[in-house]
Amino acid sequence: MAIAGGSASGKTTFASRLQALLGDAYCAVLSQDRYYIDQSSVFRGDGENVNFDHPSALDFSLMRQHAETLGMGSAVEAPIYDFASHKRSIQTFRFDPRPVILLDGTLILNDPGLRELADHRIFISASEACRFERRMSRDTRERGRSPDGVQRQFERQVKPMHDQFVEPSRTFADEVISGETGFEERLSAWAALLREGASRPSRE
Ligand SMILES: Nc1ncnc2c1ncn2[C@@H]1O[C@H](COP(=O)(O)OP(=O)(O)OP(=O)(O)O)[C@@H](O)[C@H]1O
Ligand SMILES: [Mg+2]
Repeated sequence: MAIAGGSASGKTTFASRLQALLGDAYCAVLSQDRYYIDQSSVFRGDGENVNFDHPSALDFSLMRQHAETLGMGSAVEAPIYDFASHKRSIQTFRFDPRPVILLDGTLILNDPGLRELADHRIFISASEACRFERRMSRDTRERGRSPDGVQRQFERQVKPMHDQFVEPSRTFADEVISGETGFEERLSAWAALLREGASRPSRE
């Protein structure tokens, strides 16, 4: 299942709540964040020479390969990426297959291969003001970034890439869910559907 949407729209929150409802043995989240290409040797500063919001910053070929392998019931060695140092670890994480794999990331629905692999496609939607505010508090608190750096990166990279690649991919979603309000009802509907392995929940 693909879970796309703008940065800080609430994708990871939705995916981890869904995983909690389904249980770790039944469901796992494969995050696009793992697949950043290591650009630590050229990185100068937030919002400068490296654009982490462009599809070319990510190894979608490896992510597709892993999603496919997991879908066929085999484990993969998933990369480990550190946001503070912009480095891919030399270690990997053994990711075991599950009946439900959630693909979480801004550009999942922009990638034709991942889109095709997913049997359900969701887009989490939130306004630009909401996404900026959340990103500012998360990146300064959890990712060791400065407020100036977060603002510069948002204006120069996050927003233009959102408008060019993320927002247009909304059209590929089977369902758009607001990430600004509680998504309780949609979470329980999707959990029930995924447990049964049926095709699509009703909105009733
Ligand atoms: N439905 C919601 N209502 C209120 N706050 C929310 C909701 N969903 C997420 N948040 C908050 O918004 C922030 C960003 O959420 P989250 O990390 O899930 O975004 P994301 O889409 O995964 O972002 P990114 O693409 O940058 O990884 C978090 O602080 C989270 O607690
Ligand atoms: Mg996330």
